[in-house]
Amino acid sequence: MSATPSKTSTVASAVALRTTAEAIVSPLILPALLLCDFSHLSQEIENLEQAGARALHLDVMDGHFVPNLTYGPTIVEAVCRSATVPVEVHLMIERPEDTLALYQRAGASVITVHIETLSDPRSMLNQIRSLGLSAHLALNPKTDVHAVFDVLDACDGVLVMSVEPGFGGQAFLPGTLHKLRAFVEERNRRQLKFRLAVDGGIDQKTIGLTSHAGAQWFVAGSSVIRSDNYAAAISSLERLAADAISIHS
Ligand code: DX5
Ligand code: ZN
Repeated sequence: MSATPSKTSTVASAVALRTTAEAIVSPLILPALLLCDFSHLSQEIENLEQAGARALHLDVMDGHFVPNLTYGPTIVEAVCRSATVPVEVHLMIERPEDTLALYQRAGASVITVHIETLSDPRSMLNQIRSLGLSAHLALNPKTDVHAVFDVLDACDGVLVMSVEPGFGGQAFLPGTLHKLRAFVEERNRRQLKFRLAVDGGIDQKTIGLTSHAGAQWFVAGSSVIRSDNYAAAISSLERLAADAISIHS
């Protein structure tokens, strides 16, 4: 059994992790573990890191906010202990404020919460930041971009969902592209700094479109985990994303 870290050391290491997450250069591919072999979890993490993953994405689902149930702080802690790269924890749960501290203690670097679950988004984002973590705000495909405009200044990142959340392996929703462009426009207009992330149906066919539209972080589940070769999948996604920026920027 591992010792419980002191509050001071926990905050200090969280600050270091936040710095690590912020120092990551774009485009960044974040493999999502949702479809991996959980009977060999640490091996999967090692394989992904050896294949070039520079961060990982964990999908926490509660069976209420989304129609699927995955894992909670115990598994997140196990992943963070095994991983050497920063871990983003995507909370698809109702009342995320109730368990936020558990995910911080588990070792998350980035916490992503859904606007649809929050009565006071600014306060939640500030709480995440006050724990020394990067605060990302996600929005579902049916949620209008304007629903989050008011709090963009409190976001380290915005995660645009490009599928209905709940399951891996779904098809990319093309309506995502105009949302990404709207966030880029608003960020420029107000001179904000949040990073733009996209999650759902990201593969070799769709990543360039999202990169061209402004995405910088790309969550990739099935396109990496269901491939025969993690390294080839990650590097081809990274290259396609980078090519789409360099052609059009
Ligand atoms: C969906 C999750 C995604 C999922 C992505 O609710 O938020 O992170 O793991 O999987 P793919 O890339 O297969 O759509
Ligand atoms: Zn996700």
